[in-house]
Amino acid sequence: MVHNVAFIGFGGMAGHHLTQSKELTDIIRVKGIYDINPERQAVAAEKGLYVYNSAEEIYSDSEIDIVLVAVPNHLHKDFCINALRAGKHVLCEKPVTITSGDLLEIMAVAKEEGKIFTIDQNRRVNKDFILMKRNVEAGLLGDVYLIESRVEGSRGLPKGWRTDKAQGGGMMLDWGVHLIDQIMYMYPNARVTNIFCKMYNVNYAEVDDNFHLVLTLSNGVTAYIEVSTNNFLKHPRWYVLGKEGSLEIGDWDCEGTIVRCKDRQSTWGAEIAKNKVGPSKTMAPRDPDTVDTIHISAPTDVEDNLNPTYRQMIDAIEGKAELTIKPEQALRVVKVMEACFESAKTGMAIAAEI
Ligand SMILES: NC(=O)c1ccc[n+]([C@@H]2O[C@H](COP(=O)([O-])OP(=O)(O)OC[C@H]3O[C@@H](n4cnc5c(N)ncnc54)[C@H](O)[C@@H]3O)[C@@H](O)[C@H]2O)c1
Repeated sequence: MVHNVAFIGFGGMAGHHLTQSKELTDIIRVKGIYDINPERQAVAAEKGLYVYNSAEEIYSDSEIDIVLVAVPNHLHKDFCINALRAGKHVLCEKPVTITSGDLLEIMAVAKEEGKIFTIDQNRRVNKDFILMKRNVEAGLLGDVYLIESRVEGSRGLPKGWRTDKAQGGGMMLDWGVHLIDQIMYMYPNARVTNIFCKMYNVNYAEVDDNFHLVLTLSNGVTAYIEVSTNNFLKHPRWYVLGKEGSLEIGDWDCEGTIVRCKDRQSTWGAEIAKNKVGPSKTMAPRDPDTVDTIHISAPTDVEDNLNPTYRQMIDAIEGKAELTIKPEQALRVVKVMEACFESAKTGMAIAAEI
């Protein structure tokens, strides 16, 4: 069955949803949009979309089953609640809300109305993430104790609401939400027990334009997450340490390396060897014969786009499967982000049970 969708907000991301919808004509049809900006209304009209005069006009359109909420972050809550109250299923862009209290209110309304409410945590299907996750889950590194996840650029923040605190700007709510969600999605049964976050205002006084975050999980894994907008030299996208090996994935192209230890027996001579490190046994280079080096590259069976977000939502609407991007999962992520802001404000690590 094809479900009619209306967009509230028709900016950059909603435009991307529209493009993606061309691959989903078996399940959705984008009927129209509501956006306060006349220029965006004109773009929508040119693309053959119906331009609604208000969100209320969408709510009262009985043809519309699904509303996508893709406005600046501080506006998500009210549009989600009003659309659900009008009997629509709702797909909300990330970050679903800025506070956990707001999300709990939406969740209560979705439950009362018996409607599907999901969130576009689309980076769960990013190929770089899946490549890392699969190799860790295959046990190639042995017991993993550190996952470093970084997204780095050097161009600062885009102008507009992303630099305004009141509208939900800043990198924690922009990229942080994705990177935290990936770790929590990877370890659904682990709890976050400790959170330390350092936020920076390198080029923007009002919002975090860079942050470093350490999450301690109850399963023995530490996640180090870094988002930067002022890096002219980059670290790898993923760097993972396990007891039996290390993994690195350089960038979005997903080229990576795993080095596995095949011989634990190190031969320590009595004398400190002379090497480039200087006088050190511990940091002396290894004999290359004692490790296996494996090249890893992008998985070819992963659909890295918005299609999985829509397909899982439609399956849930049609009662064929449970939602896979659940509001309860988003709630955990929002709670972690709240603790990040608290940690950054106080300079203290926050003990948690999230
Ligand atoms: N999932 C992802 O990977 C991803 C990527 C980018 C953005 N996003 C999210 O999508 C949302 C939108 O971001 P964007 O990049 O499209 O921003 P944008 O600024 O390009 O677009 C926002 C649009 O909302 C409209 N708008 C503002 N207030 C409105 C109101 N009261 N009523 C109706 N329309 C209104 C604006 O005119 C604008 O066209 C944000 O929540 C953002 O975090 C998600």
